[in-house]
Amino acid sequence: MSFNRCLIILIIAAAAMALPMTALAAPAPIVIKFSHVVAQNTPKGQAADYFKKIAEERTKGRVKIEIYPNSQLYKDKEEMEALLLGAVQMLAPSLAKFAPLGVREFEVFDLPFIFDNYQELHKVTRGPIGAKLLAKLEAKGIHGLAYWDNGFKVMSANKPLRVPADFKGQKMRIQASKVLDSQMRSVGANPQVMAFSEVYQALQTGVVDGTENPPSNLYTQKMFEVQKYVTLSDHGYLGYAVIVNKKFWAGLPVDIRTILEGAMKDATKFANDVAKKDNDEALAAVKKTGKSRFITLTSQERAQWKKAMDKAHKDNMARIGADLVKEVYKETGYAPN
Ligand code: LMR
Repeated sequence: MSFNRCLIILIIAAAAMALPMTALAAPAPIVIKFSHVVAQNTPKGQAADYFKKIAEERTKGRVKIEIYPNSQLYKDKEEMEALLLGAVQMLAPSLAKFAPLGVREFEVFDLPFIFDNYQELHKVTRGPIGAKLLAKLEAKGIHGLAYWDNGFKVMSANKPLRVPADFKGQKMRIQASKVLDSQMRSVGANPQVMAFSEVYQALQTGVVDGTENPPSNLYTQKMFEVQKYVTLSDHGYLGYAVIVNKKFWAGLPVDIRTILEGAMKDATKFANDVAKKDNDEALAAVKKTGKSRFITLTSQERAQWKKAMDKAHKDNMARIGADLVKEVYKETGYAPN
């Protein structure tokens, strides 16, 4: 046998031996770490879990989604940094938390009374304005996948907040949004930016007097235990953008990315379907505990809030971009004072 033939036979034999090994050893799954700050039994928490379930099923073990709820891994600010560094791949921060990244336009969602209901909100999040805003994240190394609803905020404190004058001097925890800062100042309150994970303790120890959040967060973080009054004001909206590290997403195999996009579409429908129901149930659950007294505003009182808080619109018009704000007004019918 010639040397060449011998070599060929040897190579074929080696390849044949190696084959079953490669066939047996499945490649390691792609891991997606998804960090968020709320409890699992909230609209965002449930939608994240649902996304994990369907994404893992549909990719048949090629993708593993690890969910880290309740600020377990990172608090608000750190999770954004972790996403940019690639320490986590997916987040769903509230829309109020994008301005510190340099995308101030997202603060349009924080403007008080700009949305009267989910229908008005969806005209923005499901239309060209929503898409335009997500596209702005690309320049920051982030790819926006979807908007997930939470709901309309209640205002809580240890004194009844009925009219703007009641806010005077109250220390109110807010998210890191200049619009929310203006909103609180417009009624004479003292806004304090604080990470979500710290709110319960801050309320309990009196570091702050009150706060605002949709009922699902008020309930699952047990804030109602340390707040005597809850005003059912629906004065503003709180929802999320699901985002991924752009480089990571672009580097995924095309077939995997397509499946994950489909799973995200279904998880988004799930999130938006449960949001209102969850918040209604959370409110009922808080009421049942009897720990906080609920305040329902008369239409006159609510009109006073709206009038005072319109200042937050005026003061932030240039910051957010007047054209964008006006485009949103056109969709929602908000009429400034
Ligand atoms: C908050 O910080 O109050 C909220 O953004 C928390 C959340 O993600 O719902």
